[in-house]
Amino acid sequence: MTPPIATHPKTLRIGDLEIANRVVLAPMTGITDVPFRRQVAGLGAGLVVSEMTASADLVNGRPMSVLRCEATGLGPHVVQLAGCETRWMAEGARIAEASGADIIDINMGCPARKVTGGAGQSGSALMRDLDHALRLIEATIVAVKVPVTLKMRLGWDDRTINAPELARRAEAAGIQLITVHGRTRCQFYKGEADWGAIRAVRDAIHIPLIVNGDITSFETAVTALEMSGADAVMVGRGAYGRPWVPGQIARRFETGIAEPVPTLAAQRSHLRTLYEDILGHYGQHIGLRHARKHLGWALDAAAAASCAPADSLRGWKQKILTAEDPAAVHRSLDDAFDNFAWSAAA
Ligand SMILES: Cc1cc2nc3c(=O)[nH]c(=O)nc-3n(C[C@H](O)[C@H](O)[C@H](O)COP(=O)(O)O)c2cc1C
Repeated sequence: MTPPIATHPKTLRIGDLEIANRVVLAPMTGITDVPFRRQVAGLGAGLVVSEMTASADLVNGRPMSVLRCEATGLGPHVVQLAGCETRWMAEGARIAEASGADIIDINMGCPARKVTGGAGQSGSALMRDLDHALRLIEATIVAVKVPVTLKMRLGWDDRTINAPELARRAEAAGIQLITVHGRTRCQFYKGEADWGAIRAVRDAIHIPLIVNGDITSFETAVTALEMSGADAVMVGRGAYGRPWVPGQIARRFETGIAEPVPTLAAQRSHLRTLYEDILGHYGQHIGLRHARKHLGWALDAAAAASCAPADSLRGWKQKILTAEDPAAVHRSLDDAFDNFAWSAAA
């Protein structure tokens, strides 16, 4: 029997590290870069995970891979590595540790064909060859002193659900925490995450377990914890344009108090901060383009919060997401948020 949620331990431990709360921001390539992780951590997430870095690229000093390992200075720094060769995983882990990683997370969940296919055979493809997966895990663990964690799916497809076996063997090898996304590789992102299927992983291991997939609110977090028996939740797409969601869920676990959606003024302020941080991090040319997906999601969130009409949202997105000058983007964002405030008051 799962204890009631209120009696779950309030903190999560990874090795000697105590994590502030039980809500984690998922690693998402192209999204959870330093600026976004800084914002989500600042708004109260207990832990934020870097985008996946190919270990071979890190060893070869590829600038974008090196940038991905850069520490944020905010809480434990988790670097996620992917790879299919023991020497690259070991060397990549050593480099990540030397650049400040407090935790190394191994990716065995990515479903993308360019990661699982061809000569790559990494990410979730490793769930088809557990002996090789274990060799990679062992090589990573012996290479570093920091804790090593593992993220996986339920299995390759619904005929080969082997997350419990991989988790059990990974724990025996020294992995200190496991995250399971409740889908198979062949599901990609379709259907619904199966939180109940993760309970077999809970029963197979003694280390902390994180449940992931389709958690977007306090209510879904509670149900996912109850069904899986996990210790913590991981939120990915639920934080698109809503960087406050992980922190709000975490505080509600602690206080029981439901917080309202931030005011439009607060949403505008978060967006201004994120935008400036992105431009500073990548430089104006790349940053301007990179920021557009965040701007689009934030506009969606603000329009939803204010019940703004769809054609108005479409018009603002068209204007803001094609602007080439940050000052013009800021001016239009101010106008859009003012306009949404009128809709909310109407
Ligand atoms: C755009 C995108 C990029 C992702 N990149 C990674 C990644 O780099 N590493 C990883 O382990 N998972 C990655 N994932 C998977 C997420 O971490 C998470 O497991 C998945 O989105 C399910 O959680 P959610 O329903 O809360 O989004 C990515 C997902 C998305 C949507």
